[in-house]
Amino acid sequence: MFEQLETLPPDPILGLSVAFREDPSPAKVDMSVGIYRDRSGRTPVLEAVQAAERALIEDQSTKAYLPPAGSPGFRESIFKLVLGEAAGSLRERTTTIQAPGGCGALRLGAELIQRAAPGATIHLSDPTWPNHGPLMAGAGLRLERYPYYDPTTHSLQAQSMLDGLEAVAPGSVVMLQASCHNPTGVDPDRGQWQAILEVVAHRRLVPFFDIAYQGLGDDLDTDAWSIREAARRVPEMLVAVSCSKNLGLYRERTGALIALGADAGRAKALESQANKAARSMYSMAPSHGALIAERVMADPALSALWRRELAEMASRLRSLREALAAEIEAARPGTDASWLPAQRGMFSLLGLPAEAVTTLREQAHIYMGFDSRVNIAGLSEDKVAEVARLIAPHLA
Ligand code: LMR
Repeated sequence: MFEQLETLPPDPILGLSVAFREDPSPAKVDMSVGIYRDRSGRTPVLEAVQAAERALIEDQSTKAYLPPAGSPGFRESIFKLVLGEAAGSLRERTTTIQAPGGCGALRLGAELIQRAAPGATIHLSDPTWPNHGPLMAGAGLRLERYPYYDPTTHSLQAQSMLDGLEAVAPGSVVMLQASCHNPTGVDPDRGQWQAILEVVAHRRLVPFFDIAYQGLGDDLDTDAWSIREAARRVPEMLVAVSCSKNLGLYRERTGALIALGADAGRAKALESQANKAARSMYSMAPSHGALIAERVMADPALSALWRRELAEMASRLRSLREALAAEIEAARPGTDASWLPAQRGMFSLLGLPAEAVTTLREQAHIYMGFDSRVNIAGLSEDKVAEVARLIAPHLA
């Protein structure tokens, strides 16, 4: 049976972290996979998470199954975290289902779309995170792209994006990243979001938001603003939420799918369909990370501690962006790198040719995506100047 199966090339992102781990050079710098690293290069377990986890271990009395849609406390916390003040008026029309990480939530959303409209088309930004396509196509959806990023200005191609969305057939799904766009770091401003959502609403498109970096751009509320604004304007919407980055729960696979229907009956149908879809793929999401997140968000002291830790990570990301831009400009006078601090979140596309990416990896041990996507959080303060010096000559 398996004779015909070929060995596949490594995953474009995860494969690079394997290569990085195997690189013996003490000078190596990992700017590939999107994980937060502190000044010493570690990906710490947040203090709020450690405290919640200790309390959880002490208190837990059973490992019996959670309800199919997940822990009620976790579902409620995530719903409020993402929808904020809009949560109250949307409660009836919404269901939140615990999922195995942001990827699990994205796939669960795709399965719901496939159940409602088999073979529906989902429009992804050009470019987008490389796993969006496989997650959506794996459920049977057709993929299309809309213009998003202008590599010459490192900014949003706002008019082309709007024109692209205007041409999309009504009833199609459009994937939107709420903030800290992966891989570009470019987010629409509020005016641009208004225009985008206007088109989404009048073309009767269904927005499918991916929010994987809430709190790592500006702050928890600002980073979810586009979703809250969309919820006011459209009757139906999906949101895939990840707790990997903002709670540092990466390997615990903690996330949720929020599904908004036109009324309470639709919300009930969405929940039952999502439970059925989950049951046929993995039965139910793992509990450990979700119960930690629930404790962190429910306990006022832990929640305050987490918000401080998160704000610190976001502020450090912004400082690293400033520092990298300044060092690039110093290393190559005449270069304008002001687009780097104007972007948000972990990622930016440097726009380097493929050969430069390979040379930097093989000769300077600097790891970044094949498309020259860099994870800014992979850069430590003491390495910024050296990395900038090595990158600068290759920039356009
Ligand atoms: C990334 O884009 O590097 C992260 O979201 C990790 C992943 O799963 O690809």
